Amino acid sequence: MTKGCFITVEGGEGAGKTSALDAIEEMLRENGRSVVRTREPGGIPIAEQIRSIILDVDHTRMDPRTEALLYAAARRQHLVEKVLPALEAGHVVLCDRFIDSSLAYQGYARGIGFEDILAINEFAIEGRYPDLTLLFRVDPDVGLSRIHRDQSREQNRLDQEALTFHQKVKEGYERIVETYPERVVEIDANQSFDQVVADAVRMIKQRLSL
Ligand code: TMP
Repeated sequence: MTKGCFITVEGGEGAGKTSALDAIEEMLRENGRSVVRTREPGGIPIAEQIRSIILDVDHTRMDPRTEALLYAAARRQHLVEKVLPALEAGHVVLCDRFIDSSLAYQGYARGIGFEDILAINEFAIEGRYPDLTLLFRVDPDVGLSRIHRDQSREQNRLDQEALTFHQKVKEGYERIVETYPERVVEIDANQSFDQVVADAVRMIKQRLSL
């Protein structure tokens, strides 16, 4: 058993994960926890390179299964090189996206299917599921209008998908909540930022007994 705690944050585009993660990280540090903050795809040089290949707006010819395999490859390297050592050292690992993104985006929205995506990802993670997953739920039209207003945010290949794709992502996440009710908790990200953060902090405090 590893000693740390592995928390992932999930959700569609414009759910406000990044700003909420800043506030969650601060709360954990104030409570005396040492935190390793990271993201997927990326978090280490090899995985950041894979990220730029996947999300390059010019890579419109990328096959959906190639995309799925690249996400799983980035995940594997990031897990082995960064997440597992941090957990072993007793840190709280706060990760922006993990396996559920692949299940929702590639498995459901791209239509490859949950089972196939689960199979390649179980190969990648070897059973190391998060201890807790916060799912930020936002209406896709609200989320997309937030990211289009945000000039500082990099636009990527998946942002450019149509609204129907993002609606399917939302449905994919709904299926994930049904499949993993002990691990995944939902947060209503249509609320004000302060309320979203308050809900997220309450969930984490319950789980970590802070
Ligand atoms: P980000 O915008 O949250 O940094 O994530 C990058 C994009 O990659 C986002 O559109 C979600 C997508 N993604 C997948 O499609 N599958 C995955 O497994 C991961 C981790 C991200």
